[in-house]
Amino acid sequence: MNDLLYCHNIVIGILKEIREKIISSKLNKNDIDTKTNRRDLVTIIDKQTEDFISSKLNENFKDHYILGEETFKKDNNLEKNENVWIIDPIDATANFIKQETDYCILIAFFQNKIPKLGYIFDIKKNELIHAIDGEGVFINDIRIKEPENIALEEALISIDVRKMWKSELLKTVINNGFDLRYIGCAGLDGFKVARGHFGAFICPNLGPWDFAPLLLIAKELNLHVSDFNGNELLFAKRSDFIISTNQTYLDIKNLLKR
Ligand code: IPD
Ligand code: CA
Ligand code: CA
Ligand code: CA
Repeated sequence: MNDLLYCHNIVIGILKEIREKIISSKLNKNDIDTKTNRRDLVTIIDKQTEDFISSKLNENFKDHYILGEETFKKDNNLEKNENVWIIDPIDATANFIKQETDYCILIAFFQNKIPKLGYIFDIKKNELIHAIDGEGVFINDIRIKEPENIALEEALISIDVRKMWKSELLKTVINNGFDLRYIGCAGLDGFKVARGHFGAFICPNLGPWDFAPLLLIAKELNLHVSDFNGNELLFAKRSDFIISTNQTYLDIKNLLKR
């Protein structure tokens, strides 16, 4: 626990420092690039933020493994290292560019593949969510309660419609849920479930950096998290992703079985 608190304090320092840099940044057209397709954007701020966080973590924890979205490459050392940090420097780069809101920094720390620390930092709102293994989940240092175990028919469901428009899963939540909502930021959409605002957040093919902090948040708040078939997520692997209340998950599963 003492070790975790030490790590926690380091992360808090890093996040406070980086917020100032991001908030005061001004993007030019030349600062924006595409990666795999025209919607997969990266900016100079994504890269600089990842560099900054990685180098600060590295200064403090020389033998820890750091996996960041923008510098990710397959590497066997990841599986071998008992201390692993996973970083998404800007989650929802498209929101960052187009609306300057609803984007966040995601950081998670794992020991022997078990989630120990998780951070979702909503830069614009200056809202810092953190989770510590066994200690709970906090918004700006105020502990939050386990959300109500709402059923699908009462639940707002966040789902990536563009990527899922042909799926039975989408039809099921449209026909049986209360309504749909989507922020387009995996960290913030997922956290809305933890807060009791949404019954589920459903998104295909996420990178491990998109949901890493949500794993501990789900564990601390007794929420369901899995791939679309109910399988446990493999450590640091890309996956389809659902975080939901237990009842909403059960309702979806039962409807899909029919
Ligand atoms: C993206 C966002 C988005 C999700 C994408 C992610 P990025 O993250 O979280 O909500 O639909 O699949 O890649 O790339 O902007 O960090
Ligand atoms: Ca990206
Ligand atoms: Ca992301
Ligand atoms: Ca990102």
